[in-house]
Amino acid sequence: MEYGFNAVFPKMLIRIKFKRHRYWAKVFDEYVKNNVIDDISPDDWSAPVHTSFKKDINSDIDKALLESQIERAVRDALGGYELDVMNSWWNVYTKGMYQERHHHCGGSILSGIYAIKNANKPPVRFHNDDTPILHAMGQYDRYNGSPWDDLCGSKIDPYYEDGDILLFHSHFMHEVPYYREDDYRITVSFNLGKK
Ligand SMILES: [Fe+2]
Repeated sequence: MEYGFNAVFPKMLIRIKFKRHRYWAKVFDEYVKNNVIDDISPDDWSAPVHTSFKKDINSDIDKALLESQIERAVRDALGGYELDVMNSWWNVYTKGMYQERHHHCGGSILSGIYAIKNANKPPVRFHNDDTPILHAMGQYDRYNGSPWDDLCGSKIDPYYEDGDILLFHSHFMHEVPYYREDDYRITVSFNLGKK
């Protein structure tokens, strides 16, 4: 018997080489080395991450310049389609830190990660959005262990390098697995939409 499979609703990640990376890698590296990084995660995050999420990015860093350069890189990658950076924040991980599974729903269209240092050790991990739907529908146990259990908790660790910007749909569930390196992991996260 002949048969085949078609992929339906494939999910898209967009990877962009950020031309300004060399400059920003130096800025953030110096910032992390010269400052006490004591901004720990907001109360409603269960994971420990040093982040500027709950307050504005440090004044040593020209946030407006970085956001405008990200907007330009995104616009070029999207064939001229314009999106605004609605908010951005840096994240610094030291050994033992991680970030719990979450999404960025809340008014943005796309979200992004600018990988600055050790940002792929490990990479951000994306989860299949069908899994919570199966739970909500009470169908998870019927699928789990069946030929269709790719819907039950499948995940992907996408390829990217430091200096890349990775864009994803804001509702995609993702996490940062446990960080095991001695040196810092530095990223900037942001949300994109229409202001
Ligand atoms: Fe995130």
